[in-house]
Amino acid sequence: YADPGFSEAVIRWQRQHGRHSLPWQNTHDAYRIWLSEIMLQQTQVAAVIPYYQRFLDRFPNVQALAEAPSEDVMAHWAGLGYYTRARNLHRCAQRVVAEHGGIFPRDPGLLAELPGIGRSTAAAISAFAYGTRAAILDGNVKRVFCRVFGIDGFPGAKPVEDQLWLRAVALLPEQDVGAYTQGLMDLGATLCTRGRPACERCPLAAQCVARATGRTHLLPTPKPK
Ligand code: ADE
Repeated sequence: YADPGFSEAVIRWQRQHGRHSLPWQNTHDAYRIWLSEIMLQQTQVAAVIPYYQRFLDRFPNVQALAEAPSEDVMAHWAGLGYYTRARNLHRCAQRVVAEHGGIFPRDPGLLAELPGIGRSTAAAISAFAYGTRAAILDGNVKRVFCRVFGIDGFPGAKPVEDQLWLRAVALLPEQDVGAYTQGLMDLGATLCTRGRPACERCPLAAQCVARATGRTHLLPTPKPK
């Protein structure tokens, strides 16, 4: 069921304490947002920033990227790792141009059909670029939800993940989905960290099951061996 206390706390915290000047914020350009989300899938913010700037200088829009030779795209990705992302990025740009007139679709379901875009990345792009009410669930957000709601079980296991998606959808605010989505990401990345969560600064501490039961270090449940 809907819990306005959760999203309101996240949005208020994001406005006061979240990150506001990352290079992919303060834009609604779906191309720029998509590029950032793909780079950030497996790479930390600080490492992404210089690549992101160079990539945009060379490929300023989806047409430029779609038309570029693969070697050129790969050369601008070199060093970021996980090179499947770069191949999918190029193919995705070509499909957006060929099938969507160069405009990233608003519908997260359509975005998720494109190469390299899963359900969570599709929701993030749609929420940031278009304000769509769509739920994200990446590794950081799974950790926040497992702790706040005291959810046991490895979050990569299908039944646990299904339960987390239901939560993610139910918790979405009616408004300000962009600030809420960025707030969840920032909470997971900066306060609700794996090692030493900064619960004393967390806007969700009062409603956090893991904190109340002294189990922050036990949740999320690690992958079974
Ligand atoms: N990780 C994934 N998406 C991100 C974003 N938009 N800002 C910061 N970190 C992220």
